Amino acid sequence: MKILFLALVALQLLLLCNNGFVQSNSYPDINYDPNTAESFLMYSYAAYCEGPDISNWTCPTCSYKTMNDFKIVNLIYNATTDTQAYVGYYGNNVLVVFRGSMDVYSWITNLQFLYDAYPFCTDCYVHSGFHKAWLSVRSEIEASVANSMKLCGPKCGLIVTGHSLGGALATLAMAELIQIYKNIPTFIYTFGSPRVGNDNFASYYNSIQPNNYRTVNQHDLVPHVPTEVMQYHHVPTEVWYTSNGTYQECNDSGEDPSCSDSITNPATLSIYDHLHYFNIHCCCRDFNGSSEQ
Ligand SMILES: *[C@@H]1O[C@H](CO)[C@@H](O)[C@H](O)[C@H]1NC(C)=O
Ligand SMILES: *[C@@H]1O[C@H](CO)[C@@H](O)[C@H](O)[C@H]1NC(C)=O
Ligand SMILES: *[C@@H]1O[C@H](CO)[C@@H](O)[C@H](O)[C@H]1NC(C)=O
Ligand SMILES: *[C@@H]1O[C@H](CO)[C@@H](O)[C@H](O)[C@H]1NC(C)=O
Ligand SMILES: *[C@@H]1O[C@H](CO)[C@@H](O)[C@H](O)[C@H]1NC(C)=O
Repeated sequence: MKILFLALVALQLLLLCNNGFVQSNSYPDINYDPNTAESFLMYSYAAYCEGPDISNWTCPTCSYKTMNDFKIVNLIYNATTDTQAYVGYYGNNVLVVFRGSMDVYSWITNLQFLYDAYPFCTDCYVHSGFHKAWLSVRSEIEASVANSMKLCGPKCGLIVTGHSLGGALATLAMAELIQIYKNIPTFIYTFGSPRVGNDNFASYYNSIQPNNYRTVNQHDLVPHVPTEVMQYHHVPTEVWYTSNGTYQECNDSGEDPSCSDSITNPATLSIYDHLHYFNIHCCCRDFNGSSEQ
């Protein structure tokens, strides 16, 4: 897994050397790798653990097999917005990980659909609650990423990840961090992210960060909110798991009608699927080197 992952990063470095930073390409220029995705899912699940246990990397999920080399740099928490994230590094990667909501049922039930104007592109709007949560940790995250980059070294790239609400925050974080880290490899995997903004935001985001994999597990309900009727539009590139282990990569429209958008009966949408990416039960748990069912 580690070898594969390093090969992936090396390949991306090579592409960057040859072409510079490709802003116009809207499809990812790295391949989707299920093992890499599973590893980032586990980092995302670890973000649900208690802050002090993440701070010294003794959290239950922190002992997962692919996470042993990780060096934690900062745990970031804003009590006003109840937003938690952590930043650290391993190998040639600085990693920023956002936590989702601790109570997905009440979060979904109480989710509002208000927009904030998004300042970095024309006629762009993003979800007000997600935006305020990101802004409440932005300066600490930017400082921590800068610090982690120094500790990790000059060859390091930047990865942002998160599950659920954490996926939405990861998207907003990447949209700004990529302005600071234009010349290094960056990519993002999210799991069960809700929609973040309108179609102009999605196009803008895809033009600055093509290396975005937005994983959707089967009939997970969360990627279906807020709805398209409310003018929300997903960022590409969706990777839709139609069953445990079987997935399809979707097109760069963000709302490929042959992927999770093909689910037309809302009654079939599922919170269970939201909490079982890769058939691994969310969230902060001791997986002890294996995948608990
Ligand atoms: C470190 O982890 C232990 C075990 O989970 C925890 O009890 C303790 O509070 C943590 N210490 C600090 C300084 O965060
Ligand atoms: C937490 O978020 C609130 C609301 O955005 C903000 O006023 C406050 O400064 C933040 N706290 C820290 C420590 O950044
Ligand atoms: C799902 O996939 C995992 C990994 O391939 C496997 O271990 C597990 O048994 C599968 N579960 C089901 C219910 O198919
Ligand atoms: C995405 O695929 C659908 C059919 O599956 C097609 O209707 C749509 O035009 C495609 N969009 C893009 C941007 O490729
Ligand atoms: C994992 O499980 C084994 C055997 O059940 C146990 O000895 C070990 O302490 C566990 N490791 C962790 C990190 O919990």
